[in-house]
Amino acid sequence: MDGNNLYSLPKLPYDYKALAPAMSEEQLTLHHTKHHQAYVTGANAILEKFDKARKDNADLDMKATLKELSFHVGGYRLHSLFWENLAPAGKGGGGEPGGQLAKAINTEYGSFARFKKEFTQAASSVEGSGWAVLTYCMKTNRLLIMQLEKHNVNVIPGYRILMALDVWEHAYYLDYKNDRAKFIESFWNIVNWDEVNKRLVTHLKK
Ligand SMILES: [Fe+2]
Repeated sequence: MDGNNLYSLPKLPYDYKALAPAMSEEQLTLHHTKHHQAYVTGANAILEKFDKARKDNADLDMKATLKELSFHVGGYRLHSLFWENLAPAGKGGGGEPGGQLAKAINTEYGSFARFKKEFTQAASSVEGSGWAVLTYCMKTNRLLIMQLEKHNVNVIPGYRILMALDVWEHAYYLDYKNDRAKFIESFWNIVNWDEVNKRLVTHLKK
């Protein structure tokens, strides 16, 4: 939220060329400045619609408006988390997780290889547009994968997002055409494990 109580597009923590070749400059620029921006704009339009309707004492189509809100805010938030859990290959990106995260992955999945396999399968099999997300369940203390359709379908409340992977075609089409599997493979070279571990540690303290 900015000073106007609206959403705003966050800056990337690296430059547009930094994630190549996993994500080209053109692909990342378009994804951030057009697609992510569209969710910011869409979410704010709904907030302004609430304000206007209340001022005019007009009724809203609540069902449609709230559905739209969930879609746009989901898109806004997931992209913000996605950019932050990426880093240039070899400069914070790629390799294997460490710290508490490595321990938690081994406890849940038995090995990093098994986790990688399950997460890859979750990302590959998202129906249409969506996300694969590694989460932490505050109730069971388990690291669980959530598979989102669009930005807001199959959300499990209480699962805190540790790592997100966007598998909408808009995320990879320029670089990989329709080859989602190849995009997912290159994602592993740019995962910022320190950031994912940091998110987990924050939740463990709660
Ligand atoms: Fe996206």
